[in-house]
Amino acid sequence: IPVDPFDLVLFGATGDLARRKILPSLYRRFLAGQMPEEARVIGAARSELSDDDFRDLVREALKEFVSEKAFDADTVETFVERCSYIAVDAKDDACWQQLKSMIRDDVIKAFYFSVAPSIFGPLAERLRDHGIACENSRLIVEKPFGTDLETARKLNDKLATSFGESQIYRIDHFLGKETVQNLMAVRFANVLFEPLWNERFIDHVQITVAETVGVGGRGSYYDTSGAMRDMVQNHLMQLLCLIAMEPPNQFEADRLRDEKLKVIRALDPIPPEDIVRGQYKASKENPSYAEDAENPDSLTESFIALKVGISNWRWKHTPFYLRTGKRMARRMSEIVVQFKETPHSIFDRDGASRANSLTIRLQPDEGMDLSLTIKEPGPGGMRLVNMPLDMSFADALGPRGGEIPDAYERLIMDVIRGDQTLFMRGDEVEAAWSWTDPVIAGWEERGDKPHPYSQGTSGPEAALMLMHRDGRRWRDLET
Ligand code: BG6
Repeated sequence: IPVDPFDLVLFGATGDLARRKILPSLYRRFLAGQMPEEARVIGAARSELSDDDFRDLVREALKEFVSEKAFDADTVETFVERCSYIAVDAKDDACWQQLKSMIRDDVIKAFYFSVAPSIFGPLAERLRDHGIACENSRLIVEKPFGTDLETARKLNDKLATSFGESQIYRIDHFLGKETVQNLMAVRFANVLFEPLWNERFIDHVQITVAETVGVGGRGSYYDTSGAMRDMVQNHLMQLLCLIAMEPPNQFEADRLRDEKLKVIRALDPIPPEDIVRGQYKASKENPSYAEDAENPDSLTESFIALKVGISNWRWKHTPFYLRTGKRMARRMSEIVVQFKETPHSIFDRDGASRANSLTIRLQPDEGMDLSLTIKEPGPGGMRLVNMPLDMSFADALGPRGGEIPDAYERLIMDVIRGDQTLFMRGDEVEAAWSWTDPVIAGWEERGDKPHPYSQGTSGPEAALMLMHRDGRRWRDLET
């Protein structure tokens, strides 16, 4: 079903994210018939480009970032005709008047800030002062949303002078990933899990977001950020919240965000022994982190593992182990909910763990599996084996649609529909920083150095020890 007609002004239209994700996602929704014929995309950036130059840029971006299967030359041309461009300069009033004249009054207006956060405030003000944004226009902002509590608060305050909270869509693209939404469906649309979803039956939860890429190309941003700010404060925190939150009484934006906020507020401070930071060394093929970041003395972490406690009735004794890093053994994001062993076993103990686990795979091969213990077929007696009940979404949903939509496709359409469920609320972002700030301040004060780790591995040895010392182990990344 197509969404209502809209004008989307994309600030930062010539940037990397626009080319890699935003424009291809809009195109794919257009191809799928969800972006209506009357919708328009207005690219805005500092460079002086003509409409035709911008259309060329869009064509190139689609050629590069849309799969061959989804690249339909005629549809690309029709899509490109819907794109126009305006060069903007915060200080030049004339361009804002021109922008105003380009936007139609009778359609939904959405403004997408895919730009440095330092100019969120000035852009929002111009849109307000020139009467371009109105009561029902929507604002989409990209991360990073601040670098600590103070900067996040300032950003929230700045945006609040021009847009109401119900108009602001803070993107955390992990929330748009199909499996992440499925996690809520699995938890709240099945009777199986919820009675077991607590510290009585769940031994621990582990969340891994491992990447094989380094930080080359974005080293100057990354070196001021590190894995804690770049990944944990937002993406891993959101995953943790969806696993840990109480069921909201309706699937509605504020009810859901209220529940996530309660989880963040219940997170325990993290003692130094529950934090392992790492930095990748040079390999034969790739430079070291310090070389990528062009900072030989850098103490920034390209890997982090944490043991996180949640102080509430549901989770008091169930630790959540989080880890994320660059240049690791393989690209893999998954959540493992590890259940406890049965209280008593009537079968021969063979030393193997027979505890159930639910694995939610975000990438690659989005899907879920539930490991069960069954009898090994055959006459050999009552020998037990662990077997996964495995569901790959691509296999399960393949016949209907083929490719699983990119997170951005879902999120941009949600903005047009006015649905904030999968976006972070201002207080949520601030609460996440309130928890993150003291952790970072702690290692800075102590002068902790990240552990060097070899590329293509599971990160530093100390991260493995973080779980071993509790008698637990991470899912293997290296096989
Ligand atoms: C971004 C981070 O938010 O997410 C990157 O800034 C990271 O450092 C990326 O690589 C991972 O996203 P995805 O969708 O590729 O897993």
